[in-house]
Amino acid sequence: MGRRRAGYAPGMGSAADLIPSDADLDELRRIAKGCTACDLYRTGTQTVFGEGPRQAPVMLVGEQPGDKEDVAGEPFVGPAGALLDRALAEAGIDRTQAYVTNVVKHFKWRPVGKRRIHQKPNAAEVSACRPWLDAEIERVSPAVVVLLGATAAQAVLGRSFKVTQQRGVLLDLDGPDRGARVMATVHPSSILRAPDDDARNQQLGGLVADLRVAAEAVARLVA
Ligand code: URA
Ligand code: SF4
Repeated sequence: MGRRRAGYAPGMGSAADLIPSDADLDELRRIAKGCTACDLYRTGTQTVFGEGPRQAPVMLVGEQPGDKEDVAGEPFVGPAGALLDRALAEAGIDRTQAYVTNVVKHFKWRPVGKRRIHQKPNAAEVSACRPWLDAEIERVSPAVVVLLGATAAQAVLGRSFKVTQQRGVLLDLDGPDRGARVMATVHPSSILRAPDDDARNQQLGGLVADLRVAAEAVARLVA
């Protein structure tokens, strides 16, 4: 599977300029607080960096922090996080043993009345922020990386990757972390948008089944 790195758009910075090659995770987290590599720092409350054990066997990657995460400064602590927790538990993955992060580290939103409505990050924002994720993957060196939803999947596996067609399939992860596997699945937020309980349960079952594939791979690779 080819992996393309989207080029950095002209006029946009890149977080790569901020990342010392010898910085550990704590230092990266500290530096990321001041990141201004794309415009999202202007409207997001704070950088929401990844969290979890520094050598977690599994890493979960979402799109970007949501409204709750933006305020808390932690990934997946809102409604999507609650659903993710449930799916992880059903798949036998202990969230406290997972490193949880996002491709983009600031919340992108637009106001609708008093609410802040999620907006998808664009390709330039994903490119600008992507070096933080690369650095996290390199430092944590997980056995398995799980990409939640199309934004994360396409950021890592290429813009033509189709979650609907290739979800739940373990692939090799290119890059510095040789030997690691990567798998894409649906985003928990998409399950929250299901039209009714039946659809929701079915989609949740699909996410759990994919996470079980990841859990089995972790067990094999870490044994
Ligand atoms: N959705 C995401 O992709 N990430 C979060 O941290 C929360 C919601
Ligand atoms: Fe930096 Fe990423 Fe925030 Fe943009 S979204 S300012 S690249 S941390």
